[in-house]
Amino acid sequence: MAAYEYETHDYDVVVVGAGGAGLRATLGMAEQGLRTACVTKVFPTRSHTVAAQGGIAASLSNMGPDNWQWHMYDTVKGSDWLGDTDAMEYLAREAPKAVYELEHYGVPFSRTEEGKIYQRPFGGHTTEFGEGPPVQRTCAAADRTGHAILHTLYGQSLKNNAEFYIEYFAIDLIMSEDGQCQGVVCWKLDDGTMHVFNAKMVVLATGGYGRAYFSATSAHTCTGDGGGMVARQGLALQDMEFVQFHPTGIYGSGCLITEGARGEGGYLTNSEGERFMERYAPNYKDLAPRDYVSRCMTMEIREGRGVGAGGDHIHLNLSHLPADALAERLPGISESAKIFAGVNVNKEPIPVLPTVHYNMGGIPTNYFGEVLNPTAKDPNAVVPGLMAVGEAGCASVHGANRLGSNSLIDLVVFGRAAAIRAGKVVDAEAAPAALNQISVDFAFDRFDGLRNASGATPTAEVRLEMQKTMQEDAAVFRTDKTLKEGVEKMTNVASKVDDLKVTDRSLVWNSDLMETLELTNLMPNALATIFGAEARKESRGAHAHEDYATRDDENWRVHTISRVDGKDVELTHRPVVTDPLTTEAEGGISLKKIAPKERTF
Ligand code: FUM
Repeated sequence: MAAYEYETHDYDVVVVGAGGAGLRATLGMAEQGLRTACVTKVFPTRSHTVAAQGGIAASLSNMGPDNWQWHMYDTVKGSDWLGDTDAMEYLAREAPKAVYELEHYGVPFSRTEEGKIYQRPFGGHTTEFGEGPPVQRTCAAADRTGHAILHTLYGQSLKNNAEFYIEYFAIDLIMSEDGQCQGVVCWKLDDGTMHVFNAKMVVLATGGYGRAYFSATSAHTCTGDGGGMVARQGLALQDMEFVQFHPTGIYGSGCLITEGARGEGGYLTNSEGERFMERYAPNYKDLAPRDYVSRCMTMEIREGRGVGAGGDHIHLNLSHLPADALAERLPGISESAKIFAGVNVNKEPIPVLPTVHYNMGGIPTNYFGEVLNPTAKDPNAVVPGLMAVGEAGCASVHGANRLGSNSLIDLVVFGRAAAIRAGKVVDAEAAPAALNQISVDFAFDRFDGLRNASGATPTAEVRLEMQKTMQEDAAVFRTDKTLKEGVEKMTNVASKVDDLKVTDRSLVWNSDLMETLELTNLMPNALATIFGAEARKESRGAHAHEDYATRDDENWRVHTISRVDGKDVELTHRPVVTDPLTTEAEGGISLKKIAPKERTF
């Protein structure tokens, strides 16, 4: 057994991760007087939410008629009828409240002439239950909305006495013998000390796992750490096959160009200068949902109408927009286009390509953020003491495809929901539980094993092999052949985790070891993704299966539940929640309105 000295910290709540969801949860917990710690591997305002550009969806009606029922309908349709209806209603209903709270906390939103929060159009957001024109629902702080939210929430959390443990890497959860989460074991990166956090509630807010792929808009820190920790405890992941490709990653670097660019009037063209989205989506055009636009771009390239020397990308045009509008509404992407593509957006188009951007799947939760442990007997059973929010979780509001700007609102609505729930279930007066030492020792043994790994393959090599395989075989379009090959290749790649070579044995700023721990988190996420995709014999949302071109509600309107053990993945299913929270008579949406139908644009 590895012998590491450690310091123990007792809290009511420990939040792991300091992005939008983690900070909103932290703030909500601290506001209620719960003793709250936020443990984060990067400085809070460097969390990946800082890169969120275009905005946050809420039916404020500042730019024209809108209501939460229309927002809910768009989210249901966007999800390709795989989202849980109760959670989607909760999101749409609570969104305006959550945004006004942000405003009152101090988020510097852009303003209309009248001083209201400025809202722009985003893909898939419409009026009249999809029958009316696009709506301006996405509240924006220029094209730096995530940046504005993150800084505000961090400041507010400090003001409310939340305690931050910055540059602490969470190694593993501590679980009691009877399956209750008791805390988390951490490594402090800058001095090599070890820390055991004893908590009545642990909230995983660790973000997505975009870095399981070769080209992603996600930061290098997006390594699915929460999903990895959960999988190692034999707990479930859900709907991992649904990976969103954002239509406009900069060709080459993958850096994000916000959908807000098309919301402000930008459009895509092919090598013939054609605005091809008008052909594919006569109503929504360039503002069709992301899964659809990404597929259309891929088809244009495949059919020989891509731009550039290799004919392998597409142009995003903004130069027709007034220079002052670009400077006011899209300053960030104008700069990114210059730096990463050498393009002056006032004069030239930006070269773009669909790029991995978001994971619809994650740790299954109910709409309070409580982690589910679905069993055949009870698909809604929860894991006591454990919550997951934000991209790490799967509530599931995005189902098979997320609408743009529904991520930031997911972060704050469910971060807030988790805090409300914790306020009810956490007993601040209770003494800290006696920790399960076997579980603590497991974490230190695993850490020590990786620290001293002396196998044949360096971490970076295995990671690259995983990223290339996922990029090739679990792409925008998938086939039986690519997926079967992908499962075989990923099984082989995953087996190399047992033979890793770590060269740095130190404990202080050991990036080799940290990246190895991250790889062991990425791997179960990647495995669940490719196995889930191989098993799903239909096309739905972001899962475009060329051998099964249509959606099959009879057999496949179910959540995929995966449990990953080493390189083995066991798949089962969980029913989709089809009942809303309120009936039509109570002011809710009519069941007829949200009944599954063909998704056209
Ligand atoms: O395009 C964007 O600004 C990204 C927003 C989102 O993913 O919600």
